Amino acid sequence: MKALILAGGFGTRLRPISCTRPKTLFPIVNKPLLERILQRLEKTGIKEAILAVNGLTEFYLKKYTIEKYGLDIKYSIDPPKKPLGTGGPIKKAERLIGKSGPFLVLNGDIFTDLEYKEIIEFHKKKQAIATIALYEVDDPSRYGVAEILDNNRIKQFIEKPKKDEAPTKLINAGIYVLDPKIFNYIPKDKPTSMEREIFPKLIKEKNLFGLTMQGLWMDIGKPAGYLQANNKLLKTYHKKNKIRMQNSEIKTPVAIDSDVKIGLGTVIGPYVAIGKNTIIANNVKINHSVILPDVTIKEGATIKGAIIGEGAVIGKNVKVNKDCVIGDYVEIEDNILICEGRAVCPGTKITENIINSI
Ligand code: GDD
Ligand code: MG
Repeated sequence: MKALILAGGFGTRLRPISCTRPKTLFPIVNKPLLERILQRLEKTGIKEAILAVNGLTEFYLKKYTIEKYGLDIKYSIDPPKKPLGTGGPIKKAERLIGKSGPFLVLNGDIFTDLEYKEIIEFHKKKQAIATIALYEVDDPSRYGVAEILDNNRIKQFIEKPKKDEAPTKLINAGIYVLDPKIFNYIPKDKPTSMEREIFPKLIKEKNLFGLTMQGLWMDIGKPAGYLQANNKLLKTYHKKNKIRMQNSEIKTPVAIDSDVKIGLGTVIGPYVAIGKNTIIANNVKINHSVILPDVTIKEGATIKGAIIGEGAVIGKNVKVNKDCVIGDYVEIEDNILICEGRAVCPGTKITENIINSI
């Protein structure tokens, strides 16, 4: 079986970190999400993955040289300046996917441990045209919401309903098994939404099925979801940190990648992932945060509940507060305060406190 990974969205809700890398390359505890997906595909016995991307995403994926876990990777690229949505890229990859049997489609921004095998087997039994994985959440309004009948047939599907209009709490988990017959439903070279255009057609014909699945599932589309995905995975870590801690304190769970230096009196954790080659000076405090690779954090800085982009330089005694997202290669001068929920564009030099968004 082949898998197609939809990874050509623009990740607007994760700006500014997503200005300089696609969502699927966001590290989840120091490993890009896409690598985690490929690793799970390999474990499922899938040998070939097609990455449905735009030209810019292809550029980043090739630049980062991702670990492929032995999978044969092919690219299917949306036309320039014409995003094909969630359906168009499936049609575009028709020749690469072939018609020999059902295939798996995954949203590339989902961090999950749901068993792909389970939905594949279920789909084969039902001989459906499409089976989608469903997952129960408290607030379904940000997602596609499904109502299923006793025989698992989907009766109704509403993409992003208003809060009080969601028929259930069962959402589309962004994992589909599709029969090649699906190609007859999607127009060629045209932006198409699976959720808004194709699923309703399949429902009319009683050809859309849903399987409710349980486990870990998170959409990393927003900063809070991204941090939560890191936290959930960190929670499962019991590994002892191998690097030498000279009089610094590590409050687990913490993950520290290779070649990280940590100064005296520094307190790291809980819930911190630190990317490789990061240098942390003395008396720094970091908790509930994700630090991407190659960051420099100077003496006395405090980072709480933030995302710090690659190559950023955080000055002495700087305070970065909850829900802040600091872009790649930002330089923050000494003694600066960045208030809660602020975002700083990549490459900016910050010389004044940030109380309002810039
Ligand atoms: N190639 C390509 N081209 N991929 C795209 C495009 C495009 O034009 N637009 C979106 N994608 C990819 C995204 O990169 C992402 O991996 C996936 O398709 C879904 O798009 P999102 O933009 O992330 O959609 P969403 O999160 O608002 O909603 C979708 O996912 C939810 C689960 O997280 C829907 O499928 C919902 O029904 C679902 O509940
Ligand atoms: Mg999404």
